[in-house]
Amino acid sequence: MTTTSTTVIPVGDDYEVLVGRGLLADPATVTRLLPTAVTRVLVVHPAPLSDLAGRLAHAVEAAGARVHLATVPDAESAKTAAVAADLWGQLGRAGFTRSDAVIGLGGGTVTDLAGFVAATWLRGVAVVQVPTTLLAMVDAAVGGKTGINTLEGKNLVGAFHPPAGVVCDLDVLATLPAADLTAGLAEVVKCGFIADPVILDLVEADPADAARVDGSRLRELVERAVRVKAQVVAADLRESSLREILNYGHTFAHAVEQVESYSWRHGDAVAVGMVYVAELARLTGHLDQAVVARHRAVLDSLGLPTTYRGDRWEALLAAMRRDKKSRGDLLRFVVLDGVARPSRLEGPGAADLEAAYAAVSTG
Ligand SMILES: NC(=O)c1ccc[n+]([C@@H]2O[C@H](COP(=O)([O-])OP(=O)(O)OC[C@H]3O[C@@H](n4cnc5c(N)ncnc54)[C@H](O)[C@@H]3O)[C@@H](O)[C@H]2O)c1
Repeated sequence: MTTTSTTVIPVGDDYEVLVGRGLLADPATVTRLLPTAVTRVLVVHPAPLSDLAGRLAHAVEAAGARVHLATVPDAESAKTAAVAADLWGQLGRAGFTRSDAVIGLGGGTVTDLAGFVAATWLRGVAVVQVPTTLLAMVDAAVGGKTGINTLEGKNLVGAFHPPAGVVCDLDVLATLPAADLTAGLAEVVKCGFIADPVILDLVEADPADAARVDGSRLRELVERAVRVKAQVVAADLRESSLREILNYGHTFAHAVEQVESYSWRHGDAVAVGMVYVAELARLTGHLDQAVVARHRAVLDSLGLPTTYRGDRWEALLAAMRRDKKSRGDLLRFVVLDGVARPSRLEGPGAADLEAAYAAVSTG
């Protein structure tokens, strides 16, 4: 597809997220976002995206900068201290200075890694994020949270480092496996429930179309989800309060991911997590049954999971107690008082916590 227009979504006064189709076909789209004095650019990407990285490198070189291509291990194995150290080595040997830049081309693992390396090299150089999964477009690449994993857990080391710009070219999603696209839609739906009900209306009107890369709705869904994230992070860069609403469904989701040793896609876990916390909100008098049912219906219609095995409660509860949002022994959740009406639930009782689990269990 060729580009017809570019939607520009500002993230406060800091940077812009560009959304459209065929954006990467125009070399200037990315080069315009680089610092004006840039002379060296490190393009960080996984092997499956080598062709795209090569084309991007060509465009950046044509604009006058020297490009270093850095192929990193695929998926979560990119987010390690060893890979970050290797990239620091490449930057050092190539003489990268403060006015040089990094481009992160890939899914959320690559944008997290590239952002972290940019945040730490010389205490911070510019990073342009070019997300290539739906999850990275609507979530990981926007907002400036960067990080890597350690043996002790995911995302334990990181930095807040807003990008110089983000380019979401929907055409790159054409090669994304369907299951990854669907998982990304869970975060889009999350934005619908916490802030923008039009997202839910769009999905409900034609779920099959919403789940297609070449569907008529995907662009609007991405734009709306990016706007939600942009507005929230612009108001709260460092996750002090408002930004917590983006973690809707994530407390239970992170517990499922841990219990499943990260074999579940994040978006799949978030889908079940949203149903869990909707049930918890109903049990604690926050939410109507109809809105809980709407969670199940919307997620189901996209092929996202809404149930989880019923024999893991102790492990899930232990994992939720370790969640970053917990304070002391009290579990804290982002809940809804209604669609687009997020609120907080502190210290729900053990019976409600377990009853919500029973409601999402397959038995
Ligand atoms: N920083 C944040 O705010 C934030 C928010 C959410 C998630 N994350 C992080 O994002 C990561 C998950 O990101 P993800 O779901 O994008 O996974 P991912 O980066 O592992 O990508 C999934 C797979 O898709 C492949 N891929 C990527 N783009 C492709 C394309 N266009 N065509 C074909 N294959 C493609 C990748 O090579 C990989 O194998 C996690 O590490 C998570 O912690 C960060």
